[in-house]
Amino acid sequence: MFVAKKVTVSIIKCDVGSLAGHHIVPKPLFDIAQKNMEKAQNEGLINSSFVFNAGDDLELLMVHENGEQNRDIHKLAWDTFKEAADKALKLKLYAAGQDLLKDAFSGNVRGMGPGVAEMEIEERAADPIVVFAADKTSAGSFNYPLFRMFADPMNTAGLVIDPNMLCGFKFEVIDTLEDKSTVLQCPAEMYELLALIGTVGRYAISRIWRASDDLICASSSVSKLSLIAGKYVGKDDPVMIARAQHGLPAVGEILAPFMHSYFVQGWMRGSHWGPLMPVGLKASKCTAFDGPPRIVALGFQVANGKISSDDEGKPLIADLFDDPAFSIARREAIQNGCMLRRMGEFEPARLSAEDMEYTTIQQVLQKLEKRFMPLSQA
Ligand code: F6R
Ligand code: MG
Ligand code: MG
Repeated sequence: MFVAKKVTVSIIKCDVGSLAGHHIVPKPLFDIAQKNMEKAQNEGLINSSFVFNAGDDLELLMVHENGEQNRDIHKLAWDTFKEAADKALKLKLYAAGQDLLKDAFSGNVRGMGPGVAEMEIEERAADPIVVFAADKTSAGSFNYPLFRMFADPMNTAGLVIDPNMLCGFKFEVIDTLEDKSTVLQCPAEMYELLALIGTVGRYAISRIWRASDDLICASSSVSKLSLIAGKYVGKDDPVMIARAQHGLPAVGEILAPFMHSYFVQGWMRGSHWGPLMPVGLKASKCTAFDGPPRIVALGFQVANGKISSDDEGKPLIADLFDDPAFSIARREAIQNGCMLRRMGEFEPARLSAEDMEYTTIQQVLQKLEKRFMPLSQA
């Protein structure tokens, strides 16, 4: 009997320090990550890896056979981030160790600052995966594209045309304020799902399964750094893994929601609405007003427990947004971004008071509190 191989795709990321403000991960930090990934590969802890950056976030993509939330995998990531943060400190890079919120590793990086998305899969005959990583935004930013990919027949033709997808998909939604989760199934509960996930600052889709057989198809990082730290320490720039083809949305259906830009929370000081801009790795850097918020998408095939690689063992990675098909989205992002910036610090360019609760503006408002008099005495 054919027994499918169990493989885990983990993407773990952290802002460990950046070159010229919160702009990019510089080469010396990449080199540390690369060295540690190669060592872990030689020692057999992981089978494949790819190191990249989303703006100022160092991203470790690892393929292994240790399952999700594995202590050794998380420790490898934690130790790598620590080493890179020490280097950042030595080089006096900006905000060295920004996302490392705890001193000692305690078995799992979740809740310690770094962001994690993981997915254990039973490897199919050919298994295309797309990983997404965004900078200057937060987990709820993936609600809109995930809904389009897995629930919207106007985006995903397969929901209408492919009999294997007619059953629809199940969505796990996390309430990030109350630390609760629920599962809703589409199309039957589509309107209820939208009622929740439209509130992007609070609810975030964390997992998606195909309804007919509970096949896992998407997994995203859902953490709120501000709630962990109790004050503003940067947005929890999110990562996400989606599985494609053969009874799941095609890679092209997974990418289609990004043909247009849409607004996300984050951008400058994590306090503004900004247009999300899909970019290739070479433009994965945040510049104008610390943005605009950017997202990269990397495609690969999982093959025999590894990322499919060339004859030298170099992983074959497709830089999916490095493509003129996303030029309109990029232009829209710049145009809409300029329009918002003309509004300066007026809502809706700036986030609502509720969403600013964990930002440094609270200190400014506190200072002003005693200056207010009841209207009758003024
Ligand atoms: C957003 C972000 C930046 C900083 C901004 C101010 O997530 O990281 O926009 O908030 O550059 O940074 P500080 O306070 O470090 O000068
Ligand atoms: Mg930073
Ligand atoms: Mg970042």
